[in-house]
Amino acid sequence: MDHFLYKDGVLCAEDVPVAEIAAAVGTPFYVYSTATLLRHFTLFDEALEGIDHLVCYAMKAASNQAILKTLAQAGAGMDVVSGGEYRRAKAAGVPADKIVFSGVGKTAAEIRLALEGGIRQFNVESEPEMVLLDATARAMNTVAPITIRVNPDVDAKTHAKIATGKSENKFGIPISRARDVYRLAAKMPGLKVIGIDVHIGSQLTDLAPFEQAYQKVADLTEMLRAEGHEIMRLDLGGGLGIPYARDNQAPPLPSDYGAMVRRTLGHLGCEIEIEPGRLIAGNAGLMVSEVIYVKSGEGRDFLIIDGAMNDLIRPAMYEAWHDIIPVVEPEPGAEQAKYDIVGPVCESGDTFARERMMPPVASGDLVAFRSAGAYGAVMSSEYNSRPLIPEVLVRGDQFAVIRPRPTFDEMINRDTIPEWL
Ligand code: LLP
Repeated sequence: MDHFLYKDGVLCAEDVPVAEIAAAVGTPFYVYSTATLLRHFTLFDEALEGIDHLVCYAMKAASNQAILKTLAQAGAGMDVVSGGEYRRAKAAGVPADKIVFSGVGKTAAEIRLALEGGIRQFNVESEPEMVLLDATARAMNTVAPITIRVNPDVDAKTHAKIATGKSENKFGIPISRARDVYRLAAKMPGLKVIGIDVHIGSQLTDLAPFEQAYQKVADLTEMLRAEGHEIMRLDLGGGLGIPYARDNQAPPLPSDYGAMVRRTLGHLGCEIEIEPGRLIAGNAGLMVSEVIYVKSGEGRDFLIIDGAMNDLIRPAMYEAWHDIIPVVEPEPGAEQAKYDIVGPVCESGDTFARERMMPPVASGDLVAFRSAGAYGAVMSSEYNSRPLIPEVLVRGDQFAVIRPRPTFDEMINRDTIPEWL
């Protein structure tokens, strides 16, 4: 459920007409709903009620500080994957003991940054990372709390580019080698092993792969405890999918997920951490764009809009579907027309949808891409020298620009020209 609904014939973000925001900031832009962000966070939090737990929002999904602050004030921790994300989380006021550091390629500088600033735990992904973390922690006279990410070799049944839990993926250590790697970690004085981490992929629409992976983690917990390791925290990753098309069957609810976590892991008495990104931010954001031209091609009509693949890369990158709806509510039973919806970038891949049925649209109309809150703004670029588009946050009947659109000069003047030119 989200808070982007038609009211009196116009699309609103909570109580703010989307067209009002467009008039204030221009198009294209991203708009997020506070109520939707909080609702999704609360669903997860409540799904794990009764278990000692922390929901660490995977901020890679949407990392504007206003979003982080909204969630942190509700009690969320953060899952970060770079020094930049760590700094951003800190800047948004997230306490260090609620920040977990994931990622396969943490650099020495990133490790030092997090050890200096404080960290809940590092989710370690390889032996060389363990060696560097141990040496860095010892040199700083401290001890790094760690989980080790295991790769359970489970097929997450999602798009190949966002599956992470198969043995051919770069993530984690093979679960078959976990015993040896935990033994090695226990011998390193700069490390304190506290648990196990697992994450098998993103946009999972079925609980079965999660359950398979968590069952393996449960068995591993018992085995490692028998070996004398103190396993008290399980980080279960993120990955629960969202419905991208309104008429699709909805993926499992956080409450079903929570029940499955209890069933597979509840008896272990561990603290549970989860790292949802998409399910918190995905349906909490729209990308709004204006139609520039309606162009008739051979056997097809193109809607050429002012948003492009550089603003929302998901369709080009993952063949992702986003519902695209007009900002003025169509009359009930209005006839539909078929369009290819494309941006102005000079690549055929700059296509958001092919043969999409839409109510007839004209130049100057606004359209909204639903489910664009996660992996939207954060994955945008300035390709074709198109400035990054603004982000807006709505709360009730208020809205605020949370990242302004840079001017052309700001974008261009970042280049520096060598003296010899
Ligand atoms: N934890 C770890 C270690 C991750 O790698 C990820 C996502 C998450 C949590 C959050 O997963 P979520 O709950 O959002 O599914 N750009 C792609 C998605 C990439 C996901 C990468 N890792 C997309 O637009 O579909």
